[in-house]
Amino acid sequence: MLLKENMTIVSQVEIAPRIYEMVLRGDLVEQMTIGQFLHIRVPDASKLLRRPISISQVDKEKKEATLVYRIEGAGTEIFSQLSSGDSLDCMGPQGNGFSIDFLKADDTALIVGGGIGVPPLVELAKQLHERGVRVTAVLGFANKDAVILAEELSRYADVTVTTDDGSYGIKGYVSTVIDEMTQTFDAVYACGAPGMLVYVDRKFEKHPHAYISMESRMACGMGACYACVVHLRDQSSAANKRVCEDGPVFETGSIILE
Ligand SMILES: Cc1cc2nc3c(=O)[nH]c(=O)nc-3n(C[C@H](O)[C@H](O)[C@H](O)COP(=O)(O)OP(=O)(O)OC[C@H]3O[C@@H](n4cnc5c(N)ncnc54)[C@H](O)[C@@H]3O)c2cc1C
Ligand code: FES
Repeated sequence: MLLKENMTIVSQVEIAPRIYEMVLRGDLVEQMTIGQFLHIRVPDASKLLRRPISISQVDKEKKEATLVYRIEGAGTEIFSQLSSGDSLDCMGPQGNGFSIDFLKADDTALIVGGGIGVPPLVELAKQLHERGVRVTAVLGFANKDAVILAEELSRYADVTVTTDDGSYGIKGYVSTVIDEMTQTFDAVYACGAPGMLVYVDRKFEKHPHAYISMESRMACGMGACYACVVHLRDQSSAANKRVCEDGPVFETGSIILE
């Protein structure tokens, strides 16, 4: 069932240049699972398409969800100008998120995040930690100013940060760190820029429990318009998958990445 609600903005703060953390309150929070997103209407009559934003953290008791987004264009710019007490028309929670049910205490998980792909990984790390799973996170950012949520993640995971220019943490990409690791993991989860997803997809192609969370341009956000289609790597199958409905999380090795 597709749900829609005018959620109330509880707070909004700029946590890094042009990156905002917004807390929303509403009944939709009760339905949220890890790795899903909200499809949010821009409060501007000239913008018909909703904007998809991942759910970063969930507090079901308070009925609050935290989103972290970067200003990309006009829609996210308008989101950033809203303040507490304002409301946002949200559809969702939408999509197939991260599965963690197969993991048990003392299993190990690797989380790989890049830039504005890090937000949905926070709730994932929290829930893995609650299960007793030992979580290692490797996060990559362009530079020191762009580093977000590393502190939040370090509550639940052993975190290593890389920056492209070496202005914070280890200089290089997440691959610089991951390629040196000798440990194996029971599960791998990634969300970030396309280049990072290609790396994780190849590196963990045959892993039985490795997942990447994809982005794509969206229109309806509910599986009807096929604007967000990705193609399966299996040539014998003609089926496409929709990022909004079948994803955004897919198994490594299953999708053709650009
Ligand atoms: C499943 C999913 C989860 C996402 N989670 C986050 C998140 O947690 N934080 C965050 O900062 N961003 C996230 N994004 C990207 C975010 O949706 C875009 O940055 C945003 O829609 C840009 O809107 P705009 O009006 O500011 O920019 P404009 O460029 O003006 O957008 C114009 C149109 O393009 C679409 N669009 C533009 N960029 C993207 C994009 N990368 N993905 C999908 N549609 C796009 C918009 O929805 C809109 O219809 C996510 C995208 C997807 C698909
Ligand atoms: S955006 Fe319409 S099917 Fe995905």
